[in-house]
Amino acid sequence: MRLASVLLVALVLSCGDGPSDGVPERLSEWGLFTDGLAQEPAAGVLPYTVVSPLFSDYAEKHRFIRVPEGTTAELTMDGPWEFPEGTVLVKTFAFLADRRDPTGDERIIETRLLVLEEGVWKPYVYLWDGDDAFLTQVGARVDVEWIHDDGAMRTLTYRVPNAAQCANCHGGLDDPLPLGPRTLQMDHDGQLERLEAAGLFTAPLPADRDALVDPEGTEGTLDERARAYLHANCGHCHRDQGSAGQSGLWLTAEITESLQLGVCKRPVAAGRAAGGRTFDIVPGAPDESVMVFRMESDEAGIKMPELPSQLVHPEGVSLIREWIAAMEPAGCE
Ligand code: HEC
Ligand code: HEC
Repeated sequence: MRLASVLLVALVLSCGDGPSDGVPERLSEWGLFTDGLAQEPAAGVLPYTVVSPLFSDYAEKHRFIRVPEGTTAELTMDGPWEFPEGTVLVKTFAFLADRRDPTGDERIIETRLLVLEEGVWKPYVYLWDGDDAFLTQVGARVDVEWIHDDGAMRTLTYRVPNAAQCANCHGGLDDPLPLGPRTLQMDHDGQLERLEAAGLFTAPLPADRDALVDPEGTEGTLDERARAYLHANCGHCHRDQGSAGQSGLWLTAEITESLQLGVCKRPVAAGRAAGGRTFDIVPGAPDESVMVFRMESDEAGIKMPELPSQLVHPEGVSLIREWIAAMEPAGCE
């Protein structure tokens, strides 16, 4: 009797976080795509891009928003937009066969969802196998190869994060949050107007809006491009409520205090992770700056951003190098 009830409790508990609690085991059950492999969205599933994407080891991304029929989202100027219950945010990761041909073949690896259920964003990861993708809690490692921008062959054991790792970037100390669907990231190339025309928003678009610039584009100043890069690639952890909040290095777009941005700031952890350097940023001296040292490392415990991404992002490193080099030299003390 006693044993039976213990077993029952164990069974109920394990149902709570397993795929058996009603979460579709197959991605196709969500009805998001007419053709999943080609990422052709179903009616009412709106594709979007962000102006400053997160670098993920050269994976391509396909992003979509679906709000329940007859509902709308509220555009806000700060933070994530307010979405109705039942909203599904979708991000698929794929590798192009040849990066020099962006419209050519690609291999689709994983699809991540954030679903607003009872007011909380629930993260789900689906791993592609054949023409459908399957729910996983534990993540995966997948061998991928592609022809790089320079024509060279590249290989990588790509890491699909497990369900617990999502909160590292999307959560931190508060609830999991959408990162891309925010006005700063979405207001580019007429995208907000297109989403408005598709009926996404509750109210007309406000006239005065702030937006990031494309870090690899030609618009905006060097400072604006570097700050947009740091916001998208570092700011989700490096903010007051983020998983790197305690470091005091805060890198989101609204930060204006130069010490919080790392200028003449001593890192909390000295030693190996600082590479013998004394300040996060030494103005005018990228080679003396911890920020550059950590972005150029691929060693666990030093590398920034942290895992699951594994590769150094040379384009990002050169932008941050250029940004620091252009700063007025000031003796840090
Ligand atoms: C290394 C940090 C990081 C991790 C780990 C991470 N994400 Fe994200 N995610 C981001 C960033 C930054 C964006 C927005 C920028 C973009 O889309 O390029 C994003 C975007 C998304 C989106 C599109 C909607 C949005 O919030 O912008 C979904 C859905 C998503 N992530 C789900 C997940 C799930 C599920 C996991 C765990 C399996 C996960 N993510 C793990 C950083 C991360
Ligand atoms: C997934 C979360 C995450 C992301 C993304 C991330 N970091 Fe960090 N970062 C941390 C954590 C946690 C620490 C504190 C522990 C440590 O020093 O390793 C840290 C510490 C640092 C430090 C030392 C700061 C100090 O003053 O103590 C630097 C410099 C740094 N990160 C730079 C970056 C840069 C630049 C990026 C983006 C290119 C980035 N990080 C992206 C989590 C992250």
